[in-house]
Amino acid sequence: MADQPHRPAGPDTRPRTADRALRQRARAVIPGGMYGHQSASSLPPEYPQFMRNGRGARVWDADGNPYVDLMCSYGPVLLGHQHPAVEEAARKQAALGDCQNGPGPVMVDLAELLVDTVQHADWAMFAKNGTDATTMCCTIARAQTGRKRILVARGAYHGAAPWCTPRPGGTTPQDRANLGYYTFNDLASAQSAAAEAGDDLAGVLVSPFKHDAGYDQELVHPAFARGLRELCDAAGAALILDDVRCGFRLHLGSSWEPVGVAPDLSAWSKAIANGHPLAAVLGNDQFRDGAQGIFVTGSFWFSAVPMAAAIATIGALKAEGALAAMEHAGTVIRDGIVGQAKSWSLEVNYSGPVQMPYLTFAGDADYALAGLFAAQAMRRGVYLHPRHNWFGSAALTDDDIAVVLTATDEAFGAVRKHLAR
Ligand SMILES: Cc1ncc(COP(=O)(O)O)c(C=O)c1O
Repeated sequence: MADQPHRPAGPDTRPRTADRALRQRARAVIPGGMYGHQSASSLPPEYPQFMRNGRGARVWDADGNPYVDLMCSYGPVLLGHQHPAVEEAARKQAALGDCQNGPGPVMVDLAELLVDTVQHADWAMFAKNGTDATTMCCTIARAQTGRKRILVARGAYHGAAPWCTPRPGGTTPQDRANLGYYTFNDLASAQSAAAEAGDDLAGVLVSPFKHDAGYDQELVHPAFARGLRELCDAAGAALILDDVRCGFRLHLGSSWEPVGVAPDLSAWSKAIANGHPLAAVLGNDQFRDGAQGIFVTGSFWFSAVPMAAAIATIGALKAEGALAAMEHAGTVIRDGIVGQAKSWSLEVNYSGPVQMPYLTFAGDADYALAGLFAAQAMRRGVYLHPRHNWFGSAALTDDDIAVVLTATDEAFGAVRKHLAR
């Protein structure tokens, strides 16, 4: 298995036989061959469907082709794959027990650690996926207020349950009947949706910044965040922050702590256990009764191994200066890519925080240029995405960054050549 990514000048010569064989077998036994956000079916053919392993900031596909990883499993990997302290903590807990008749002591340890780490949190509950957490936040808001309506930003992603899935196949209009809509960063639109909800407003759900797939990202205007807080206070509704995608990548606390706005409830998953399956809902005391009054559970929600991994993840984030490392790597990559685009006379928009950036090409409505760029980067051993924000990790070394910037420069060259045709 090669360690260093290929840098082919000519045709794509990476071995692909294992991936092709797996895809063929999958087509027979998995509907559509694959489903969900990890389906490679809408990605350029350069993308493998199946991945074999990862270490640090490198991942290998099923054929053993190596990549520098700028997607980090679509977010969950923060410190790098197979982080030693996290895996050691998981192994130690696994040797004791994982799925048992009751949660392990680590559940209380983790709840205490999260309450200490995240300013707005007085309590914590755990689940498996981000959708569990966002759904639970809405349920708690409704239970606490006795009202139904939740406001969400148009186009925002909060998970794949019937109330929030972006593809409505198999859902009913009733699944979304109690939602109202506003536009991100447009306080007047949230105020008018709140006015429409009247005395039925249970909560406002919002992401830390606008990171809808396929669109340039938009940082939150602090006045918008403060306005939502005031709106919820005036209505007695819950301000719910969906920190599933951003949580612990931007800040060791809620992603709105630097903005100075505290939500009542927040939803977490993805990176909190560096790739181990865990989600959390954090809340303040005003919503404690609502939280304890509902019945929510799952067979695997109390597993101890991911909780031990989360404790080690938070410890490593603090001990290793991981947030600063991610910001540094992200800044070097952004500055390099933006400079390269300019040198190739290509108009791009590199939006969002440097730790989770998104690149678009001007006028590229059908993502043809983004697809070409991403495919060329993949061929050169850099795993990024044409229509979704990327995710940096604290494991990116100078060598990884050099591989990234060599690949992106050549990928821009390929885009320029394509446009010249
Ligand atoms: C902002 C946000 N909320 C919720 C979710 C749903 O999380 P999960 O896929 O773990 O259910 C995601 C997943 O990408 C997300 O990005």
